[in-house]
Amino acid sequence: MGTIPPHHFETQDGTRVVLRSASLDDAPALVDCCKAIWLTSEFFVTQADEFDLTEKRARKWIRKHRDSSGSLMLLAEVDNTLVGLLNFQCGGRRRVSHQGTFSIAVHAEFQGMGIGSVMLQTLVDWGLSNPTIEKLSLSVFATNCRAIKLYRRFGFVEEGRRIKDVKLGPGRYVDDIVMARFVCQDDN
Ligand SMILES: CC(C)(COP(=O)(O)OP(=O)(O)OC[C@H]1O[C@@H](n2cnc3c(N)ncnc32)[C@H](O)[C@@H]1OP(=O)(O)O)[C@@H](O)C(=O)NCCC(=O)NCCS
Repeated sequence: MGTIPPHHFETQDGTRVVLRSASLDDAPALVDCCKAIWLTSEFFVTQADEFDLTEKRARKWIRKHRDSSGSLMLLAEVDNTLVGLLNFQCGGRRRVSHQGTFSIAVHAEFQGMGIGSVMLQTLVDWGLSNPTIEKLSLSVFATNCRAIKLYRRFGFVEEGRRIKDVKLGPGRYVDDIVMARFVCQDDN
């Protein structure tokens, strides 16, 4: 796994946050954290009755990141409780191993405190310092204005739009936007 040394910071209201790489011991907490975030956010594809992340799968997920130098799983912790995660994974074949996709999520109670920004900055810095990684990508619901604004602030640009990619219900669709930013030294 690409790892980072633990990073401690305080939000504006004085909340102490630890940002660190995931370890296998985090599996149970990761399940709880993902459940709490995904099931309360309207911006993920997974719905409550489809949530299938078990402790065993979480361990596998963490291990998959741990075993690849082109992957990174960051966890944000407040008072020893996970409140956010960012996971990046590069392509599995040589021709796509220079780039990868990530997703990011912060528990609703801790949003708007700067935790997402610190996680994203950490990913960008890690990408810039990792010679094998050249490009970071993501996809985001076109209606997720807060997230899109955050990505733009960190230099991500829209590369494409998958029309009606998500179906919320009968006749209710959302476009999915693909965004990316290069992190190779030549482009920065
Ligand atoms: C998108 C997300 C990861 C951002 O994380 P965050 O910790 O809230 O981000 P930050 O606190 O660094 O704030 C980013 C911006 O969003 C704004 N913001 C975030 N949460 C907010 C809230 N609850 N109310 C109002 N503004 C908010 C911040 O003010 C900030 O704006 P700025 O760029 O003008 O300063 C987080 O909101 C989230 O997890 N959302 C639900 C899941 C999701 O949409 N994930 C992305 C899927 S592609």
